[in-house]
Amino acid sequence: MFETSDEWIQSRTGMRERRIGREDENTSDMALAASLVALDRAGLQPSDIDCIIVATVTPDFVFPATACILGSKLGIEGKPGFDLEIACSGFIYGLTVASSMVRSGLFRRILLVGAEKLSSVTNYEDRATAILFGDGAGAAILEASDEDSFLSAELGANGADPTALYIPAGGTREPLTKDAIDARRGKIAQNGREVFKFAVNTLISVSDKAIAKAGLTYADIDWLIPHQANRRIIDAAAKHLDLPPEKIVINIDRYGNTSAASVPIAMSEAWESGKLKKGDTIIFVGFGGGLSWGALAWKWAI
Ligand code: UT7
Repeated sequence: MFETSDEWIQSRTGMRERRIGREDENTSDMALAASLVALDRAGLQPSDIDCIIVATVTPDFVFPATACILGSKLGIEGKPGFDLEIACSGFIYGLTVASSMVRSGLFRRILLVGAEKLSSVTNYEDRATAILFGDGAGAAILEASDEDSFLSAELGANGADPTALYIPAGGTREPLTKDAIDARRGKIAQNGREVFKFAVNTLISVSDKAIAKAGLTYADIDWLIPHQANRRIIDAAAKHLDLPPEKIVINIDRYGNTSAASVPIAMSEAWESGKLKKGDTIIFVGFGGGLSWGALAWKWAI
């Protein structure tokens, strides 16, 4: 498609493979697949779910919410559902919202999904972004419990320069005209170097704050599960975190950047591989478009 090399991509991003959805495969389809795995692992039926939240920047439609479509595909029409759009911080905000709703007693069980079909908004003529993004979904079920998993949340956003990482056209500021489509303004654009610097600094500062807010130190942390945007971002931040590198969950080599899906996919794989154990203390971290960021300190409950 353009002048690049596997060597450049691997050395600058740590990515070796990505997953690309079929043309007829929508975000709700990937969300459904992940949800069914999560339900199976939890030994639950879709009817056990009281509310659905889908974190995504690539919904099936601008509206209705992908959560509504997912609910229907799960056969639980009538149950509440909504989407949460805060780009790569989506799952972190989603965990905060979902756990708040469970802790308040509003719902007993919430299905939280991070799902993205980023290939549908990737500009395959821009080599600086085309090599980064992949498709995927991850799901979690939060359930009311006497033991609180939520330890702290540190969230933030700054919309002073939305153009740092955005899709220029398709919203009210710039409708998706034929000219806009031809100029690929309906696809992701970013200032890679600026976002890189922001990401490294944010990963460090937001992790520090979430840990301090929870009354913990890095010595208490078993796992850090960051948004997978660039291996170099994680490695650069890791040098400043008081945490051994083997405690940082990284799977960017196989999926690339899947935005709101990256943290739940990494979480799911860490659990599958036996890394996450009941009682472990985890820091989930996200950062990206908005600009936005967030970290949660979390006690693993299963
Ligand atoms: O989800 C959260 C948000 N996103 C991110 O966190 C992304 C943050 N940014 C990044 O990960 C990195 O900035 C990139 C991977 C996007 C780019 O890496 P970089 O080391 O910052 O490269 P650069 O933009 O400084 O470009 C260096 C050179 C340029 O050539 P010149 O001007 O030095 O001649 C680019 O044109 O690399 C060139 N380049 C490429 N070369 C081969 C850019 N993309 C490619 C490519 N293949 N695919």
